[in-house]
Amino acid sequence: MRQSRDRILNEMLGRFLPALTMALLATAVLAQPGPAPMDSTPPGPNILPEDEGDEYPPRRKPGDGEPIIRGWIAPPGHAPWQVQIYSTIPYTQTEIDHDARLSPIAAQNPGGERKKFLRERSAFERQHRCGGAYLGELWIVTAAHCVAGKPFIGANAGKVLTHRRVRMGTQNLQKDGATYPIDSIVIHKDYQPGKKKADIALIRISTAGKVGRIQSGRLQSIRLHSVPLGAVPIPDTEFLEVSGWGLTGPLAVGAENVRLDQEGKIQRNPARLHYVPVRHLSRKGCKKYASLRDSIKKGMICALGWSKSPDIAYGDSCLGDSGGPLVRRRSSGAVRLVGLVSWGKGCGLPNMPGVYVDISYYSKWIISAQVGARSGISRR
Ligand code: ARG
Repeated sequence: MRQSRDRILNEMLGRFLPALTMALLATAVLAQPGPAPMDSTPPGPNILPEDEGDEYPPRRKPGDGEPIIRGWIAPPGHAPWQVQIYSTIPYTQTEIDHDARLSPIAAQNPGGERKKFLRERSAFERQHRCGGAYLGELWIVTAAHCVAGKPFIGANAGKVLTHRRVRMGTQNLQKDGATYPIDSIVIHKDYQPGKKKADIALIRISTAGKVGRIQSGRLQSIRLHSVPLGAVPIPDTEFLEVSGWGLTGPLAVGAENVRLDQEGKIQRNPARLHYVPVRHLSRKGCKKYASLRDSIKKGMICALGWSKSPDIAYGDSCLGDSGGPLVRRRSSGAVRLVGLVSWGKGCGLPNMPGVYVDISYYSKWIISAQVGARSGISRR
């Protein structure tokens, strides 16, 4: 099973991503930069199954899809702070037809346009955009690129207020929970659309246009991880956990927009929230990875997934997980928000950490940006 997948992956890569990507992928696999070898298993309570192969991750019913990469479906109430940001603007039939005519290889399309496989995807997948974390008092923290990225630049900036809504209190995008309109957005002043720096924003929801109902216990705020002077920072290689409804299979570098999995099938967004353990890497620890070194700036941390073998996918976040929580769970039961999914090169590749917003770096900003916020969009 795994072998045939690898063969198909190779064929797919060969077909869609010629020489350059293969070279990059090989570099990623071969250039072992030296940090701790992936030798121990992630901590409980969600113990990895002992056996590997086809049973790892555990078999699921058809249609469940594979994980956020190589993780699990979150049991009810697992991440009650996880929220979804979704689009309220359905694609038109014209857009769907246009997308259907595009090639999966962006370079073969006019203007390098990327195929989104709109026709093949279900309605909830077409609407899904990002994750976020609930901080309480109607505030959500997410990635700036989720609310101030390409569709919302210049004169279009204000559209985000009506073109996006927030779903909370459910881990299933097709069921339960409530949705809310956005009242205000505070974007970090150092964030620039298309850039990776200061990829953080706050959203305040409005209860006025609430639709649906949240069951008790299904929505809980999460506290921020902060590192006061003298406190012990999170050691590199400690397992954290990332969750989301993002794409679920590995993607080669440069293939982020070839939304096909290793079997050449379209990558899907799962309806049910997925989570996976990933090892913390401080900014300095992350800079040991040559492929990321030059792009890792202050305010970024990384996390590297785990795999039993380098030829099966590593735990990682991927497209659609952005803005979602990277959390630290202590044995005491305390949970803290450590990061937000921000960017990466490919998804689920060996020795290729995902990059996250460093919450401790922005914790003061998160608190002060809420003070005196007005309706609408502001920068702070
Ligand atoms: N930018 C992506 C998003 O908007 C997140 C990519 C994370 N990539 C990774 N390999 N961890 O959803």
